[in-house]
Amino acid sequence: MLRLSLFALLIVSGAAALSAQTSTTQTQTQQQTQPQTPTQTQTTLTDNIPVQAIKAPRNPLPSEDASANATKFTFFVYGDTRGRRDGYELQYEHSLVINSMVAQIKKLEKTDYPARFVIQTGDGVANGAMGKQWNLSYIDLINKLTQDGGVPYFLAPGNHDVSSADTHDAERRQPGLKNYYSANAELLPPDGSPRRLSGYPVFSFGYGNTFVIAFDSNIAGDEKQIAWITEQLEGLDRQRYKNVFVYSHHPAFSSGPHGGAQIEKPTQIIRDRYMPLFRKHHVKVFFGGHDHLFEHWIERYEDSTGKHRLDHVLTGGGGAPLYAYAGDPDIRPYVKQYAEEKVSLERIAKPSYEPGGGAYHYVLVQVDGEDIKLEIVGLDWGRDFQPYRSNKANLSEK
Ligand SMILES: [Fe+2]
Repeated sequence: MLRLSLFALLIVSGAAALSAQTSTTQTQTQQQTQPQTPTQTQTTLTDNIPVQAIKAPRNPLPSEDASANATKFTFFVYGDTRGRRDGYELQYEHSLVINSMVAQIKKLEKTDYPARFVIQTGDGVANGAMGKQWNLSYIDLINKLTQDGGVPYFLAPGNHDVSSADTHDAERRQPGLKNYYSANAELLPPDGSPRRLSGYPVFSFGYGNTFVIAFDSNIAGDEKQIAWITEQLEGLDRQRYKNVFVYSHHPAFSSGPHGGAQIEKPTQIIRDRYMPLFRKHHVKVFFGGHDHLFEHWIERYEDSTGKHRLDHVLTGGGGAPLYAYAGDPDIRPYVKQYAEEKVSLERIAKPSYEPGGGAYHYVLVQVDGEDIKLEIVGLDWGRDFQPYRSNKANLSEK
Protein backbone atom coordinates (compact mmCIF):
# COMPACT_ATOMS: atom_id res chain seq x y z
CA MET A 1 0.00 0.00 0.00
CA LEU A 2 2.81 2.35 1.01
CA ARG A 3 4.73 1.41 -2.14
CA LEU A 4 1.65 2.03 -4.23
CA SER A 5 1.03 5.52 -2.83
CA LEU A 6 4.73 6.41 -3.18
CA PHE A 7 4.49 5.34 -6.80
CA ALA A 8 1.39 7.49 -7.26
CA LEU A 9 3.16 10.48 -5.67
CA LEU A 10 6.09 10.09 -8.03
CA ILE A 11 3.76 9.94 -11.02
CA VAL A 12 1.92 13.08 -9.93
CA SER A 13 5.07 15.10 -9.14
CA GLY A 14 6.78 13.94 -12.30
CA ALA A 15 3.81 14.86 -14.43
CA ALA A 16 3.56 18.33 -12.89
CA ALA A 17 7.23 19.01 -13.55
CA LEU A 18 7.05 17.73 -17.09
CA SER A 19 3.87 19.45 -18.13
CA ALA A 20 5.67 22.79 -18.17
CA GLN A 21 8.36 21.73 -20.49
CA THR A 22 8.64 18.34 -22.13
CA SER A 23 6.83 15.60 -23.88
CA THR A 24 6.29 12.61 -21.62
CA THR A 25 7.44 10.25 -24.35
CA GLN A 26 11.03 11.42 -24.08
CA THR A 27 13.48 9.23 -22.25
CA GLN A 28 15.42 10.53 -19.26
CA THR A 29 18.55 10.89 -21.41
CA GLN A 30 16.70 12.83 -24.05
CA GLN A 31 15.28 15.14 -21.41
CA GLN A 32 18.78 15.88 -20.23
CA THR A 33 20.31 16.58 -23.61
CA GLN A 34 17.48 17.98 -25.69
CA PRO A 35 16.08 21.43 -25.20
CA GLN A 36 12.41 22.19 -25.20
CA THR A 37 11.02 23.79 -28.29
CA PRO A 38 9.14 27.06 -27.82
CA THR A 39 5.75 25.36 -28.07
CA GLN A 40 6.73 23.02 -25.27
CA THR A 41 7.77 25.78 -22.88
CA GLN A 42 4.34 27.30 -22.49
CA THR A 43 4.13 28.27 -18.85
CA THR A 44 0.38 28.08 -18.63
CA LEU A 45 0.23 25.87 -15.54
CA THR A 46 -0.08 28.27 -12.60
CA ASP A 47 -0.67 27.70 -8.89
CA ASN A 48 -1.45 31.30 -7.86
CA ILE A 49 0.91 30.96 -4.88
CA PRO A 50 2.42 34.39 -4.08
CA VAL A 51 6.17 34.50 -4.63
CA GLN A 52 8.40 35.85 -1.85
CA ALA A 53 10.80 38.65 -2.63
CA ILE A 54 14.50 37.83 -2.58
CA LYS A 55 16.08 39.90 0.21
CA ALA A 56 17.73 43.17 -0.76
CA PRO A 57 21.53 42.82 -0.85
CA ARG A 58 23.49 43.73 2.28
CA ASN A 59 25.79 45.84 0.09
CA PRO A 60 23.57 47.39 -2.59
CA LEU A 61 25.16 49.13 -5.54
CA PRO A 62 25.96 52.74 -4.67
CA SER A 63 24.37 55.47 -6.77
CA GLU A 64 26.02 55.89 -10.16
CA ASP A 65 27.55 59.19 -9.01
CA ALA A 66 28.97 57.67 -5.84
CA SER A 67 30.77 54.85 -7.66
CA ALA A 68 32.16 56.96 -10.52
CA ASN A 69 35.80 56.28 -9.62
CA ALA A 70 35.63 52.48 -9.33
CA THR A 71 37.80 50.88 -12.01
CA LYS A 72 38.84 47.60 -10.38
CA PHE A 73 36.33 44.97 -9.35
CA THR A 74 34.87 41.57 -10.15
CA PHE A 75 31.41 40.49 -11.15
CA PHE A 76 29.91 37.05 -11.69
CA VAL A 77 27.86 35.72 -14.61
CA TYR A 78 25.95 32.47 -14.84
CA GLY A 79 22.63 31.12 -16.08
CA ASP A 80 20.10 28.32 -16.40
CA THR A 81 19.64 27.22 -12.83
CA ARG A 82 16.28 25.48 -13.22
CA GLY A 83 16.18 22.03 -11.67
CA ARG A 84 14.38 18.76 -12.20
CA ARG A 85 12.77 18.94 -8.75
CA ASP A 86 11.61 22.56 -8.89
CA GLY A 87 8.64 23.08 -6.60
CA TYR A 88 9.67 20.13 -4.45
CA GLU A 89 13.15 20.86 -3.09
CA LEU A 90 15.98 23.37 -3.21
CA GLN A 91 17.96 23.27 -6.49
CA TYR A 92 20.89 21.07 -5.52
CA GLU A 93 23.25 21.70 -8.44
CA HIS A 94 22.51 25.42 -8.22
CA SER A 95 23.41 25.30 -4.51
CA LEU A 96 26.92 24.11 -5.46
CA VAL A 97 27.29 27.20 -7.64
CA ILE A 98 25.98 29.51 -4.93
CA ASN A 99 28.24 28.07 -2.22
CA SER A 100 31.26 28.46 -4.45
CA MET A 101 30.31 32.03 -5.35
CA VAL A 102 29.90 32.98 -1.69
CA ALA A 103 33.33 31.53 -0.95
CA GLN A 104 34.81 33.47 -3.89
CA ILE A 105 33.17 36.69 -2.71
CA LYS A 106 34.83 36.27 0.72
CA LYS A 107 38.17 35.54 -0.91
CA LEU A 108 37.94 38.55 -3.22
CA GLU A 109 37.06 40.91 -0.35
CA LYS A 110 40.73 41.01 0.60
CA THR A 111 41.97 41.74 -2.92
CA ASP A 112 42.00 44.79 -5.23
CA TYR A 113 39.08 43.25 -7.15
CA PRO A 114 36.13 42.84 -4.75
CA ALA A 115 32.96 41.20 -6.07
CA ARG A 116 30.32 43.85 -6.72
CA PHE A 117 27.35 42.09 -8.36
CA VAL A 118 26.02 38.90 -9.96
CA ILE A 119 24.15 38.67 -13.25
CA GLN A 120 22.04 35.65 -14.27
CA THR A 121 21.16 35.01 -17.91
CA GLY A 122 17.73 33.48 -17.15
CA ASP A 123 15.74 30.31 -16.61
CA GLY A 124 15.83 30.57 -12.84
CA VAL A 125 13.16 27.89 -12.44
CA ALA A 126 11.53 25.26 -14.67
CA ASN A 127 8.08 26.85 -14.74
CA GLY A 128 8.05 30.46 -13.57
CA ALA A 129 4.25 30.52 -13.48
CA MET A 130 4.34 28.18 -10.46
CA GLY A 131 4.89 30.23 -7.32
CA LYS A 132 6.02 27.23 -5.34
CA GLN A 133 8.93 26.62 -7.70
CA TRP A 134 10.42 30.03 -6.90
CA ASN A 135 9.57 29.76 -3.18
CA LEU A 136 10.76 26.23 -2.50
CA SER A 137 13.60 25.80 -4.94
CA TYR A 138 15.16 29.15 -5.78
CA ILE A 139 14.57 32.13 -3.47
CA ASP A 140 16.59 30.88 -0.48
CA LEU A 141 19.62 30.19 -2.65
CA ILE A 142 19.65 33.75 -3.96
CA ASN A 143 19.10 35.02 -0.42
CA LYS A 144 22.37 33.34 0.46
CA LEU A 145 24.06 35.35 -2.24
CA THR A 146 22.48 38.68 -1.24
CA GLN A 147 22.92 38.06 2.52
CA ASP A 148 26.01 35.86 3.09
CA GLY A 149 27.65 37.18 -0.08
CA GLY A 150 26.02 40.60 0.33
CA VAL A 151 25.95 41.29 -3.41
CA PRO A 152 23.21 42.63 -5.71
CA TYR A 153 21.70 40.08 -8.08
CA PHE A 154 20.17 40.76 -11.50
CA LEU A 155 18.15 38.09 -13.34
CA ALA A 156 17.26 38.46 -17.03
CA PRO A 157 14.01 36.60 -17.81
CA GLY A 158 14.34 33.25 -19.57
CA ASN A 159 11.68 31.33 -21.48
CA HIS A 160 11.15 29.03 -18.49
CA ASP A 161 10.60 32.06 -16.25
CA VAL A 162 8.04 33.98 -18.31
CA SER A 163 7.17 31.54 -21.16
CA SER A 164 8.40 31.72 -24.72
CA ALA A 165 5.53 34.01 -25.80
CA ASP A 166 7.09 36.57 -28.10
CA THR A 167 4.89 39.58 -27.33
CA HIS A 168 4.93 41.47 -24.04
CA ASP A 169 1.16 41.39 -23.56
CA ALA A 170 0.65 37.71 -24.40
CA GLU A 171 -1.67 36.09 -21.89
CA ARG A 172 0.47 33.04 -21.21
CA ARG A 173 3.41 35.25 -20.29
CA GLN A 174 1.62 37.06 -17.48
CA PRO A 175 1.66 34.52 -14.57
CA GLY A 176 5.42 33.95 -14.92
CA LEU A 177 6.09 37.65 -15.36
CA LYS A 178 4.14 38.45 -12.19
CA ASN A 179 6.19 35.90 -10.25
CA TYR A 180 9.43 37.21 -11.76
CA TYR A 181 8.54 40.73 -10.58
CA SER A 182 7.64 39.48 -7.08
CA ALA A 183 10.88 37.50 -6.70
CA ASN A 184 13.02 40.41 -7.92
CA ALA A 185 11.08 43.30 -6.35
CA GLU A 186 13.99 44.31 -4.08
CA LEU A 187 16.65 43.83 -6.73
CA LEU A 188 15.60 45.50 -9.98
CA PRO A 189 15.83 49.24 -10.59
CA PRO A 190 12.29 50.37 -9.70
CA ASP A 191 9.71 50.95 -12.39
CA GLY A 192 9.78 54.62 -13.30
CA SER A 193 13.53 54.96 -12.77
CA PRO A 194 15.61 56.04 -15.79
CA ARG A 195 17.38 52.67 -15.70
CA ARG A 196 14.22 50.62 -16.16
CA LEU A 197 11.99 50.25 -19.21
CA SER A 198 8.68 51.01 -17.54
CA GLY A 199 6.41 47.96 -17.32
CA TYR A 200 9.09 45.57 -18.61
CA PRO A 201 11.68 43.25 -17.04
CA VAL A 202 14.32 45.27 -18.88
CA PHE A 203 16.89 47.38 -17.04
CA SER A 204 20.41 48.68 -16.82
CA PHE A 205 22.83 49.86 -14.15
CA GLY A 206 26.17 51.55 -13.91
CA TYR A 207 28.99 50.81 -11.51
CA GLY A 208 32.34 52.57 -11.75
CA ASN A 209 33.60 52.57 -15.33
CA THR A 210 31.15 49.83 -16.33
CA PHE A 211 27.59 49.86 -17.64
CA VAL A 212 25.37 46.78 -17.88
CA ILE A 213 22.11 46.28 -19.80
CA ALA A 214 19.75 43.30 -19.32
CA PHE A 215 16.99 42.71 -21.84
CA ASP A 216 14.16 40.26 -22.39
CA SER A 217 15.13 38.19 -25.41
CA ASN A 218 11.87 36.21 -25.35
CA ILE A 219 10.32 39.36 -26.78
CA ALA A 220 13.43 40.44 -28.69
CA GLY A 221 11.29 41.93 -31.46
CA ASP A 222 9.46 44.31 -29.10
CA GLU A 223 10.00 47.76 -30.64
CA LYS A 224 9.67 49.59 -27.32
CA GLN A 225 12.45 47.46 -25.90
CA ILE A 226 14.74 48.04 -28.89
CA ALA A 227 14.07 51.79 -28.71
CA TRP A 228 14.85 51.87 -24.97
CA ILE A 229 18.12 49.98 -25.33
CA THR A 230 19.12 52.29 -28.19
CA GLU A 231 18.34 55.29 -26.00
CA GLN A 232 20.36 53.88 -23.07
CA LEU A 233 23.37 53.35 -25.31
CA GLU A 234 23.09 56.66 -27.12
CA GLY A 235 22.70 58.65 -23.91
CA LEU A 236 25.66 57.02 -22.18
CA ASP A 237 28.59 59.05 -20.93
CA ARG A 238 31.39 57.11 -22.60
CA GLN A 239 34.05 59.23 -20.97
CA ARG A 240 33.00 57.51 -17.79
CA TYR A 241 31.53 54.20 -18.95
CA LYS A 242 34.44 52.63 -20.80
CA ASN A 243 33.06 49.10 -20.53
CA VAL A 244 29.57 48.16 -21.69
CA PHE A 245 28.23 44.65 -21.15
CA VAL A 246 24.86 43.37 -22.32
CA TYR A 247 23.09 40.15 -21.43
CA SER A 248 19.91 38.27 -22.23
CA HIS A 249 18.71 34.71 -22.08
CA HIS A 250 19.09 33.87 -25.79
CA PRO A 251 22.56 34.05 -27.31
CA ALA A 252 23.44 35.26 -30.80
CA PHE A 253 25.55 32.18 -31.54
CA SER A 254 25.43 28.71 -30.06
CA SER A 255 26.56 25.24 -31.05
CA GLY A 256 24.16 23.65 -28.57
CA PRO A 257 20.75 22.11 -29.25
CA HIS A 258 19.07 25.56 -29.27
CA GLY A 259 21.62 26.75 -31.82
CA GLY A 260 23.42 24.93 -34.59
CA ALA A 261 22.19 25.60 -38.08
CA GLN A 262 18.62 26.05 -36.82
CA ILE A 263 17.99 29.50 -35.46
CA GLU A 264 15.31 30.28 -32.92
CA LYS A 265 13.38 33.48 -33.55
CA PRO A 266 14.91 35.52 -30.68
CA THR A 267 18.40 34.60 -31.86
CA GLN A 268 17.62 35.72 -35.41
CA ILE A 269 16.27 39.04 -34.12
CA ILE A 270 19.33 39.50 -31.89
CA ARG A 271 21.59 39.00 -34.91
CA ASP A 272 19.56 41.36 -37.10
CA ARG A 273 18.53 44.13 -34.73
CA TYR A 274 20.77 44.09 -31.66
CA MET A 275 24.22 43.15 -32.90
CA PRO A 276 24.56 46.14 -35.28
CA LEU A 277 23.61 48.36 -32.34
CA PHE A 278 26.08 46.63 -30.03
CA ARG A 279 28.87 47.02 -32.58
CA LYS A 280 27.98 50.67 -33.12
CA HIS A 281 28.36 51.30 -29.38
CA HIS A 282 31.40 49.07 -28.93
CA VAL A 283 29.75 46.73 -26.43
CA LYS A 284 32.53 44.57 -25.00
CA VAL A 285 30.70 41.35 -24.17
CA PHE A 286 27.26 39.97 -24.93
CA PHE A 287 26.46 37.24 -22.37
CA GLY A 288 23.70 34.67 -23.04
CA GLY A 289 22.50 31.31 -21.79
CA HIS A 290 19.60 29.06 -22.86
CA ASP A 291 21.91 26.20 -23.91
CA HIS A 292 23.30 24.49 -20.82
CA LEU A 293 26.94 24.65 -21.70
CA PHE A 294 29.85 27.05 -22.11
CA GLU A 295 30.80 28.58 -25.43
CA HIS A 296 32.81 31.64 -26.44
CA TRP A 297 33.00 33.45 -29.78
CA ILE A 298 34.97 36.54 -30.73
CA GLU A 299 33.30 38.85 -33.22
CA ARG A 300 35.79 41.18 -34.88
CA TYR A 301 34.76 44.22 -36.92
CA GLU A 302 35.97 47.56 -38.15
CA ASP A 303 34.50 51.05 -38.18
CA SER A 304 35.75 54.59 -38.68
CA THR A 305 37.51 54.44 -35.30
CA GLY A 306 39.47 51.28 -36.08
CA LYS A 307 39.38 47.55 -35.33
CA HIS A 308 37.21 46.21 -32.54
CA ARG A 309 36.35 43.05 -30.72
CA LEU A 310 33.03 41.99 -29.23
CA ASP A 311 32.97 38.76 -27.23
CA HIS A 312 29.96 36.43 -27.14
CA VAL A 313 30.02 34.36 -23.95
CA LEU A 314 27.35 31.70 -23.48
CA THR A 315 27.16 30.48 -19.91
CA GLY A 316 24.30 28.11 -19.10
CA GLY A 317 25.89 25.86 -16.50
CA GLY A 318 24.07 27.08 -13.39
CA GLY A 319 22.49 23.74 -12.52
CA ALA A 320 20.05 22.71 -15.26
CA PRO A 321 20.79 19.37 -16.99
CA LEU A 322 23.91 19.88 -19.09
CA TYR A 323 23.74 19.96 -22.87
CA ALA A 324 26.41 19.12 -25.43
CA TYR A 325 27.57 20.26 -28.86
CA ALA A 326 24.80 19.76 -31.42
CA GLY A 327 26.14 21.43 -34.56
CA ASP A 328 27.85 24.56 -35.81
CA PRO A 329 25.74 27.66 -36.28
CA ASP A 330 25.68 28.81 -39.90
CA ILE A 331 27.55 32.09 -39.60
CA ARG A 332 27.92 32.69 -43.36
CA PRO A 333 24.80 34.85 -43.89
CA TYR A 334 25.78 36.99 -40.88
CA VAL A 335 29.35 37.53 -42.01
CA LYS A 336 28.15 38.28 -45.55
CA GLN A 337 25.47 40.69 -44.37
CA TYR A 338 28.03 42.78 -42.48
CA ALA A 339 30.90 42.48 -44.93
CA GLU A 340 31.20 46.27 -44.98
CA GLU A 341 32.17 46.20 -41.30
CA LYS A 342 34.56 43.31 -42.03
CA VAL A 343 32.74 41.18 -39.47
CA SER A 344 34.40 37.85 -38.70
CA LEU A 345 33.68 35.23 -36.07
CA GLU A 346 36.04 32.93 -34.26
CA ARG A 347 35.00 30.34 -31.70
CA ILE A 348 37.60 30.08 -28.95
CA ALA A 349 35.68 27.71 -26.66
CA LYS A 350 33.58 24.94 -28.14
CA PRO A 351 31.10 22.88 -26.14
CA SER A 352 31.94 19.30 -25.40
CA TYR A 353 30.51 16.49 -27.56
CA GLU A 354 29.16 14.78 -24.44
CA PRO A 355 27.20 16.44 -21.60
CA GLY A 356 29.72 14.83 -19.21
CA GLY A 357 32.50 16.80 -20.91
CA GLY A 358 30.85 20.05 -19.83
CA ALA A 359 30.44 21.22 -16.27
CA TYR A 360 28.26 23.19 -13.94
CA HIS A 361 30.07 26.48 -13.84
CA TYR A 362 30.02 30.24 -13.49
CA VAL A 363 32.14 33.02 -14.91
CA LEU A 364 34.23 35.51 -12.95
CA VAL A 365 34.73 38.76 -14.84
CA GLN A 366 37.61 40.86 -13.65
CA VAL A 367 37.47 44.53 -14.60
CA ASP A 368 40.75 46.44 -14.42
CA GLY A 369 40.23 49.75 -16.17
CA GLU A 370 39.47 48.75 -19.74
CA ASP A 371 41.12 45.34 -19.38
CA ILE A 372 38.68 42.48 -18.99
CA LYS A 373 39.65 38.98 -17.91
CA LEU A 374 37.44 35.92 -17.55
CA GLU A 375 37.90 32.94 -15.30
CA ILE A 376 35.54 30.00 -15.68
CA VAL A 377 34.93 28.16 -12.42
CA GLY A 378 33.81 24.52 -12.85
CA LEU A 379 32.12 22.70 -10.00
CA ASP A 380 31.58 19.27 -8.57
CA TRP A 381 32.95 16.60 -10.98
CA GLY A 382 33.62 19.43 -13.44
CA ARG A 383 35.94 21.35 -11.14
CA ASP A 384 38.85 20.96 -13.55
CA PHE A 385 36.74 22.41 -16.39
CA GLN A 386 39.06 24.06 -18.92
CA PRO A 387 36.97 25.23 -21.86
CA TYR A 388 39.97 27.03 -23.42
CA ARG A 389 42.45 24.29 -22.52
CA SER A 390 42.78 26.57 -19.54
CA ASN A 391 39.97 28.23 -17.64
CA LYS A 392 41.04 31.79 -18.38
CA ALA A 393 40.57 34.27 -21.21
CA ASN A 394 42.00 37.75 -21.63
CA LEU A 395 39.58 39.85 -23.66
CA SER A 396 42.01 42.71 -24.08
CA GLU A 397 44.07 40.80 -26.63
CA LYS A 398 43.23 41.97 -30.11
FE1 LIG B 1 15.98 28.69 -21.94
